[in-house]
Amino acid sequence: MTHTDIDASPYLASAYASDRAHVFHSWSAQGSLAPTVIAGALGSRMWDDKGNRWLDFSSQLVNVNIGHQHPKLVAAIQQQAARLCTIAPFHANDMRSEAARLITELAPGDLDMVFFTNGGTEAIENAVRLARGYTGRYKVLSAYRSYHGATGTSIQLTGDPRRWGNEPGAPGTVHFWGPYLYRSAFHATTPAEECERALEHLANVLMVEGPQTVAAIVLETVVGTNGILVPPDGYLAGVRRLCDQHGIVMVCDEVMAGFGRCGEWFAVDHWKVIPDLITFAKGSNSGYIPVGGVIIKRVIADAFKDRVYPGGLTYSGHPLACASIVASIGIFKEEKIVENARRIGSDVIGPELERIMAKHPSVGEVRGLGVFWAIELVRDRKTRKPLVPYNASGADAKPMGEVMAACKAGGVWPFAHFNRLQVTPPCTITADEAREGLAAIDKALEVADRHVEG
Ligand SMILES: Cc1ncc(COP(=O)(O)O)c(C=O)c1O
Repeated sequence: MTHTDIDASPYLASAYASDRAHVFHSWSAQGSLAPTVIAGALGSRMWDDKGNRWLDFSSQLVNVNIGHQHPKLVAAIQQQAARLCTIAPFHANDMRSEAARLITELAPGDLDMVFFTNGGTEAIENAVRLARGYTGRYKVLSAYRSYHGATGTSIQLTGDPRRWGNEPGAPGTVHFWGPYLYRSAFHATTPAEECERALEHLANVLMVEGPQTVAAIVLETVVGTNGILVPPDGYLAGVRRLCDQHGIVMVCDEVMAGFGRCGEWFAVDHWKVIPDLITFAKGSNSGYIPVGGVIIKRVIADAFKDRVYPGGLTYSGHPLACASIVASIGIFKEEKIVENARRIGSDVIGPELERIMAKHPSVGEVRGLGVFWAIELVRDRKTRKPLVPYNASGADAKPMGEVMAACKAGGVWPFAHFNRLQVTPPCTITADEAREGLAAIDKALEVADRHVEG
């Protein structure tokens, strides 16, 4: 099928009307929506039914790491569809076995078993189930300013406003503050201070919660939607030490940060920290087929050798999803996509964002690594007053809406969250494409500058 064929879908003309009549959307007041009808996408670009084109600087929901419609990945899925579309999880399957072998080969330490799920939130649910089964404890700690998914335990672990409408949930989740130097919860002024104080705070939370009651600490290795918060050196190692000290399972959520996004296969590789469980999803196959999973340390998997694991999914290890993981990992290696993400971050996005920050008074901070960056917009650099309030909506959120509209008019579609523009293009983006998109953002930030006070 060519891209013209896709554009010529018989349902394209009625897509918008049918969407508004029949599609119930995520995280939205349904009446306020006016979704763009995307007609196609290729590489780092996408276009709508009216011929508007954008550089996809959000990789959709930060998942299309390999870029859109990679021909080899599409072909691998087509081949598998012709061979075997589906098979129950209790059978062994060649693609599932190979996907698990490849993932565990890439994972650090002795994380060498995989439980496959349909996406990120189920990966978190099962990581918590594994930790509770392994430790015999119930409580789970996670950070404020985090997102872990929209189902039972994952949404209770989530440390952002998406949890509010889902409360009360099952008991047993406790939140703590993670490191975020720009808006430090600890009045820290250096990364080392932030690291030390954040660890001291976590140790104190454990003390008052009773560490012997805690099954797991769940944290995003690099916090994604809540601000691309790169932990200071030493923080993850410190969490590892606390977990070891108290027999707590350390779960690194790499649903967004993993599979090349941070310029490494896994974000933990930056700090050479080995968690007990890693959750993955999005970038593992770029969302071409829904999939996720938990990579499990041998000793935790072994706890279920003679004891039944109390969890399962009809589509666990789905052959189409697993074939796409196998193909995607192969393409990543062949085309050196992780290396590309790292280089684009250090040679293009990082320096360009520094230049943009020097030029625009509305830019309070830029931060990130690989192809995972945030531009934090403020009204006042001194006070760090955000361009829009936390969780703003309606008129309060208008300045960010204006900036996003200016970006889109300039041909780039970044990810916007609260007072931040997030630059998260595919890991395959070229230096020229990255520069083109950043130039459009540079221009759009003139709109943000108009809101600067004083
Ligand atoms: C860090 C993190 N964990 C978990 C999830 C949930 O994944 P899913 O939407 O596939 O359920 C997300 C989704 O954005 C995420 O960013």
